[in-house]
Amino acid sequence: METEHKISVMISEEELDKKIAELGAQISKDYAGKSVKLICILKGSVFFCCELAKRITIPVTLDFMQVSSYGSGTVSSGQIKIKKDLDESIEGDYVIVVEDIIDSGNTLSRLIPMLLERKPASLAVCTMLDKPERREVEMEVKYNGFQIPDEFVVGFGLDYDQKYRNLPFIGVIHMDEE
Ligand code: IMP
Ligand code: MG
Repeated sequence: METEHKISVMISEEELDKKIAELGAQISKDYAGKSVKLICILKGSVFFCCELAKRITIPVTLDFMQVSSYGSGTVSSGQIKIKKDLDESIEGDYVIVVEDIIDSGNTLSRLIPMLLERKPASLAVCTMLDKPERREVEMEVKYNGFQIPDEFVVGFGLDYDQKYRNLPFIGVIHMDEE
């Protein structure tokens, strides 16, 4: 694929598929006899959330939320704002917040208390990627796809300046041209 930047594969499409199948199976087992509501955090989580939903064998509902994050840079602003709220109540629901990546943890650590106020039956986090070295706020992440080193990644929903979300793999973006 032609891109502006040099991008190398960190996690292949096959590895992602395999891991998402495992996460889906685990969630189906953990919530057996119940139904789960996946909260997809726009826009980055869309690709992961769709693939995950397809791998869950118990009843699933979906809702979407958008909070402000990085803008066009690669450094967290440390603040979140709800740009798009959920369409439906989550009261009494078994909620799983689906994230593309947890970096500093600032986004989720602000979002989770807001969601808990809405009285879900339970609330868990499922993230495709985790950069533990960058964490500024500790939090419990029940489902975690891959722990990755502190590198800026794109693809499978993740963007750099809104680009590269459509790459079918997770890639490392090389900013300086060699
Ligand atoms: P946090 O609040 O620092 O945990 O950041 C979470 C959000 O930052 C993610 O949902 C992404 O939108 C964005 N982000 C963090 N690291 C990366 C990266 O390596 N590539 C692309 N987006 C990232
Ligand atoms: Mg982003």
